[in-house]
Amino acid sequence: MEQTNWWKKSVVYQIYPRSFYDADGDGIGDIAGIAQKLDYLKELGVDVIWLSPVYDSPNDDNGYDIRDYYKIMDEFGTMADFDFLLASAHERGLKIIMDLVVNHTSDEHEWFVRSKSGRDNPYRDYYYWRDGKEGREPNNWGSIFSGPAWEYDEASGQYYLHLFSKKQPDLNWEHPPLRKEVYRMMKFWLDKGIDGFRMDVINFISKVDGLPDGAVEEGALYGNGSPYFMNGLRIHEFLREMNEEVLSKYDILTVGEMPGVRVDHAKAYTAPENKEVNMIFTFEHMGLDSGPGEKWNLEKLDLVDLKENFEKWQKGLHGVGWNSLYWNNHDQPRIVSRFGNDREHRVLSAKMLATCLHMLHGTPYIYQGEEIGMTNVRFESIDEYKDVETLNMYREKRGQGIPHEKIMESIYVKGRDNARTPMQWTSGPNGGFTDGTPWIGVNPRYKEINVEKALEDKDSIFYHYKHLIGLRKELDIITTGDFNLLYRSHPALFAYERRSGDEKLVVLCNFGDEEIELDEENLIHEATGAEVIVQNYKEVQLEQSRLVLRPYETVVFLKK
Ligand code: NOJ
Repeated sequence: MEQTNWWKKSVVYQIYPRSFYDADGDGIGDIAGIAQKLDYLKELGVDVIWLSPVYDSPNDDNGYDIRDYYKIMDEFGTMADFDFLLASAHERGLKIIMDLVVNHTSDEHEWFVRSKSGRDNPYRDYYYWRDGKEGREPNNWGSIFSGPAWEYDEASGQYYLHLFSKKQPDLNWEHPPLRKEVYRMMKFWLDKGIDGFRMDVINFISKVDGLPDGAVEEGALYGNGSPYFMNGLRIHEFLREMNEEVLSKYDILTVGEMPGVRVDHAKAYTAPENKEVNMIFTFEHMGLDSGPGEKWNLEKLDLVDLKENFEKWQKGLHGVGWNSLYWNNHDQPRIVSRFGNDREHRVLSAKMLATCLHMLHGTPYIYQGEEIGMTNVRFESIDEYKDVETLNMYREKRGQGIPHEKIMESIYVKGRDNARTPMQWTSGPNGGFTDGTPWIGVNPRYKEINVEKALEDKDSIFYHYKHLIGLRKELDIITTGDFNLLYRSHPALFAYERRSGDEKLVVLCNFGDEEIELDEENLIHEATGAEVIVQNYKEVQLEQSRLVLRPYETVVFLKK
């Protein structure tokens, strides 16, 4: 099938169905709820919806533990609801991509149930089963969700591998029948007419033979197995096979979630001639506010690091592969609380952050609520948290004697439930998310921050996003132009230009709450005679030889 690369000009909106909109009043978002909000997404102007998993699941990890790939989760509705959603989206010119979670399944998936039923079962090799070593786990790897990465099965006397929770056993991609089953399932969804896949931790599917022990970093309880399961030996072979068997037969968007990937890996994964995936989600920029070891170690962001990181990716993939651009998703805290100021400068800083990302080269992703500037949440008690990663970490660290308050501080800043509180639609009860009792608490700021208010206010963050999305459609330079970092060492100014032929965009973003005065001849020369196409203050303070950027101010100049 001819690949038209339509996704190069698209903006994607991610929906976490559990928290988006509850149409039936059971406190859990659902597919019918999404269908009711399509016109809202149309108004925003996005092109593609990425649905986090909607498949049948016991919800140990909110759907990232799939029990049946061919069935919709009861709480979310039925296959008929899904078909209706897809048709309604297509009617409006919206595309839908699905989450493809095939590094692991639920331990309640039929394959695992069979696999566990005995060493001789034909499904045994669908997963990683190993004998213990000297009465312990087969190796020293820690699970990404705390504890060891192995679970013992009494009945067969062997352990199975789970890089995530023990209810998420890892699939064995070395086993050809498993790969065939995955491809069959992918075709089932693509033949329904979905428009692509976001592939969950897809660079974990090739593990190094022998599964050797990992190095134990200082203070860690377990070995770090990631060098042996990230970007493994056969990963390109597996992705090319998947491409040949499935992806190449459709004109779709594919984005691989890939922790631990550098630019050189990304080139190999996304260069079109390699026929693997269109783009990947990288993590480097999301790790810059963590200390060594793990995400829970808090560190202040150094803006220069962030700028240079973007520069590396923008330059590295330009003309070679393709970037995906994101600040937020269901695993990340809210960006306005993270790199902005979610109090007195919430609106300004949310618009600035949006501008900074959306003027870059690549495909932007917006996570539900980002477009209205939703913020992190601070629940009093650990019992109000629902995320398996957060809860396991809390238990493990308490066990190590770390004080409750210190752990909560990390959760407030980095916990995944920051992104998972219900979408704030109105200032009514539960932020208009549900008539029932929400499965997780609503962020108490819903009265001030909600869609209803955003739609009424022409200066809202929502309309700023809409404007940025519109510009991407209007100006090819945003899709094609190259990237140059400006003011490299400035600690609060993120500035860059994009060039294409004689055209040029200059993007200025003040990441701090102090004024920045720019009086360099060059910039002013560029700015005079240029058109201001984005701003977040009423007027741009540009005088003859001076440009002043106020707190969190952003300005984009277009020069033809
Ligand atoms: C990445 C997903 O984004 C995350 O939510 C999930 O917990 C893990 N993969 C495991 O599937």
